[in-house]
Amino acid sequence: MAIFVIGGTGFIGIRVIPLLVAQGETVVCMDINPNAPTLAGLGDQVTVVRGDVTQFDDVISNMEASKADRVINLSYNLGQDLPPHRATKLNIVGMDNCFEAARILGVKHTVFASSLAVSGQQKNFGERAVTEDDYKYAVVQYGSHKAFNEFQAKDYIEKHGMTITAVRPANVTGPDKVRGSVDHVNCITRPARREAISFPFADAMRIPIHVDDIAEVFVRVLMKDKPAHAIYNSGGQTISLGELADIVRGYLPDAKISFEKQTGGKEASGNYLIDNSRLVREFGVQYRPYREWVLQIINDVRADTGQPPIRG
Ligand SMILES: NC(=O)c1ccc[n+]([C@@H]2O[C@H](COP(=O)([O-])OP(=O)(O)OC[C@H]3O[C@@H](n4cnc5c(N)ncnc54)[C@H](O)[C@@H]3O)[C@@H](O)[C@H]2O)c1
Repeated sequence: MAIFVIGGTGFIGIRVIPLLVAQGETVVCMDINPNAPTLAGLGDQVTVVRGDVTQFDDVISNMEASKADRVINLSYNLGQDLPPHRATKLNIVGMDNCFEAARILGVKHTVFASSLAVSGQQKNFGERAVTEDDYKYAVVQYGSHKAFNEFQAKDYIEKHGMTITAVRPANVTGPDKVRGSVDHVNCITRPARREAISFPFADAMRIPIHVDDIAEVFVRVLMKDKPAHAIYNSGGQTISLGELADIVRGYLPDAKISFEKQTGGKEASGNYLIDNSRLVREFGVQYRPYREWVLQIINDVRADTGQPPIRG
């Protein structure tokens, strides 16, 4: 049996697939952009095919040919920028195509990426950690589509008895992240490239999780036959951009990070206090200290730009 990964040549997918291969799994990855040099090095255990998740024929024919018993959908538009029709096709119809094909083919377990964005702004909850059962306050395109994806999964679970699990990643970070929330990434990568960077508010709150940690979460959840819950918060490291800048300056004393204002950003911040005890209890995940990840990202960028590594 293989694993069928949709949207697997993106930022998270290229980290998920090697972990699956390392566990001895065979992977068929379908992506509209099949160009993934890092996957090419994984040999016969990985096949990358071009396919469009918005086209049901592409999804079911490739899923069937893969003979997969587990499916993970990572394809999405990470932003609010698409016109409604295109966004709905990719984010909503694409998800339905994935669930419906998995239903028809009797897939054992389907996993998809939801997001912390379903919860909307932290101020809706006060200063307390948000759980998977809390009300969803998403108002923008991306978060509203993720919230609806969770409903789609519930509908398939209730009406067809399927096993479908959502993971809600927090603000995923890594040296090559270019889509979605990127201010917390740029706060590390720009100084590592010796570039100056400025942000509106030092007290803007984020909850980063390193892409290697979220890849591990996806794999653990995917490989379980019947998780106890349908939705899992990843959680991460609650931190303000000002505090993150201080960590970066600890490694790069000359870092040119500035803020237009010290306060005013917290009130407008998305969900930054997240209860991930469900995931931790059931899957035993433990994240590396965030400070160490910051150093690794700095050194990844320095390696890319021909600079020597910094010691922790
Ligand atoms: N990166 C984050 O911070 C973050 C946070 C929360 C949730 N997520 C979710 O995790 C998932 C993966 O995110 P990512 O950061 O790897 O994003 P990404 O944009 O790097 O990867 C998405 C992949 O989907 C593919 N894709 C786009 N349209 C497609 C189509 N029509 N058919 C087939 N494939 C298509 C893209 O080519 C890309 O490889 C997404 O669902 C995203 O919403 C990401």
